[in-house]
Amino acid sequence: MRVEDLDTPTVVVDIARVERNLKRWQDYCDRHGIRNRPHIKTHKVPELAHRQVALGAVGIACQKLGEAEVMADAGIEDILIPYNLLGHAKLDRARALARRVKLTVACDSTVVADGLAEAFAAEGERLAVMVEVDSGMRRCGVGTAEEAAELAVHVAAKKSLRFAGFLTYPAPRGTAQVQEVMSAAKELLAGRGIETPAVSGGGTPDMWRAHEAPVVTEYRVGTYIYYDRMQVAAGAASYEDCALTIRTTVVSRPGSDRAVLDAGSKTLTSDIGSLDGHGYIVEYPEARITKLSEEHAQVDLSACAAKPAVGEQVTVIPNHCCVVSNLFDSVAVARDGRIVGRFPIAARGLVR
Ligand SMILES: Cc1ncc(COP(=O)(O)O)c(C=O)c1O
Repeated sequence: MRVEDLDTPTVVVDIARVERNLKRWQDYCDRHGIRNRPHIKTHKVPELAHRQVALGAVGIACQKLGEAEVMADAGIEDILIPYNLLGHAKLDRARALARRVKLTVACDSTVVADGLAEAFAAEGERLAVMVEVDSGMRRCGVGTAEEAAELAVHVAAKKSLRFAGFLTYPAPRGTAQVQEVMSAAKELLAGRGIETPAVSGGGTPDMWRAHEAPVVTEYRVGTYIYYDRMQVAAGAASYEDCALTIRTTVVSRPGSDRAVLDAGSKTLTSDIGSLDGHGYIVEYPEARITKLSEEHAQVDLSACAAKPAVGEQVTVIPNHCCVVSNLFDSVAVARDGRIVGRFPIAARGLVR
């Protein structure tokens, strides 16, 4: 079977591109002495996580416990959850997970740290906990190096916890800020007599600048396995690197300058970021996907010299591949245009 024989809309992963993307980044990490810890929220596929580890990753990161449980079931042994875990339901699951794998979690408040400490009070082994620092993203994380050091002291004083280092998820073009705030936190903590075992940074947009923040010892990248239109716009990759695409059919040509595809927000997602349009059509680069409804994409063909016919299939590189993965049960795996298998997306939909 070839890619064009698939029914649409469908997600296709070009495995040769995946292999190239994974290797290029692992080589970079090896060259710069950075521990590679890929974030699997992009693919949610155990088989791909195993490939990342086999190439040299020290372990994986999972955003949610549910993803981590799937990966642990599949035999992944070292998992970081860079997320604040709160409430008995999650803390019970974290305790069970920590008995099965080498688990590290994050916290950015004493509330989270105290909850973890209490949940692990009767465990034989201390839970590894990193302190999350906001280096400019304005999401989670303590706001200053002083607060980071303070919280690290708090964590280190807990009998059931082990301070495992500082962690940040940077804003795009935030490499210099990462270097600054993480170095300051480390230095302040050293002044309190506590060493920082690791500093975890991340993000695909600035992955090729990781060496410019030498304070970072471990780097979490997610989107680098597939890349997408946002990462091409960020300069991290080119369209030729994009490994996840959506095959879709032109189901209508309501006017000379318009086409409609059988992929809407339930396939392409509504993520737009700062981009214009909802995806890049490989065969018609001048086309613009201007609007989505659930199962239709409206395409403006006015800038195209050649135009697709009704029934023709086209290939879309989505704006944001990670959210697309979460919408499908499996992806078709292609090599040189031939379908060579299918990966179940075992952790799709696991948001708890
Ligand atoms: C905490 C954390 N680490 C790492 C990543 C990976 O980022 P990227 O997909 O840009 O590589 C993300 C992405 O959302 C994240 O939230």
